[in-house]
Amino acid sequence: MENFKNVVIFDHPLIRHKIAILRNEKTSMKEFRELVEEITTLMTYESLKEGVPTTEIEVKTPLETCRQQIVADDAIVIVPILRAGLGMVNGVHVLFPSAKVGHIGMYRNEETLVPETYYCKLPTGIEDKLVVVVDPMLATGGSACDAIQLLKDKGCKHIKFMAIIGAPEGVTKVATTHPDVNIYVSTLDRCLNDHGYILPGLGDAGDRLFGTK
Ligand code: PRP
Ligand code: URA
Repeated sequence: MENFKNVVIFDHPLIRHKIAILRNEKTSMKEFRELVEEITTLMTYESLKEGVPTTEIEVKTPLETCRQQIVADDAIVIVPILRAGLGMVNGVHVLFPSAKVGHIGMYRNEETLVPETYYCKLPTGIEDKLVVVVDPMLATGGSACDAIQLLKDKGCKHIKFMAIIGAPEGVTKVATTHPDVNIYVSTLDRCLNDHGYILPGLGDAGDRLFGTK
């Protein structure tokens, strides 16, 4: 895959370790859910080191008074793509507890793989916030591209996208369709199979998070 300026692929032993367990078909739903959250928190720490609005406050130490930067209240809005993106929300909230959450519901048509939007509810004022779109799986890239476009159509200007596993096809599609969006992927897998599933992947993230199969 080409190197894109707006794409970061994480290469961290701790993340690799957790993803290895996540992929295992024997990993329980509980452990899967916990791992998705933990990986998301690790990704959030790195992905949000730039672009987060801060504010300056005065702090009195035992020795003197100094000015310090803190993260602004309501600095970011988390937007999970339903369903599987829901599994990542707590992982961001651990670090940004006052972040508001918007929801975009999408599912892929199983034959065409084209995403259909069935729900959208976003916090008021989202257009001025840093919006962090989360979805564990970036396969063809159709869902991510459409979700980002929907947010842009609502006026959002600062958008980041985080996925745990990406396929080269999907990463390329989002990176070229939305060159102004920073994309963070924990690991880049080999390819998609004929049904649009990522190989080696982890199967259907929504089903594994919520026990629907
Ligand atoms: C999965 C996943 C992404 C999408 C990725 O959702 O969570 O949203 O597929 O595929 P794409 O990159 O080819 O668009 P799915 O449509 O299976 O819905 P679900 O989360 O409700 O299971
Ligand atoms: N959605 C998933 O949940 N898994 C894949 O491999 C592709 C899309």
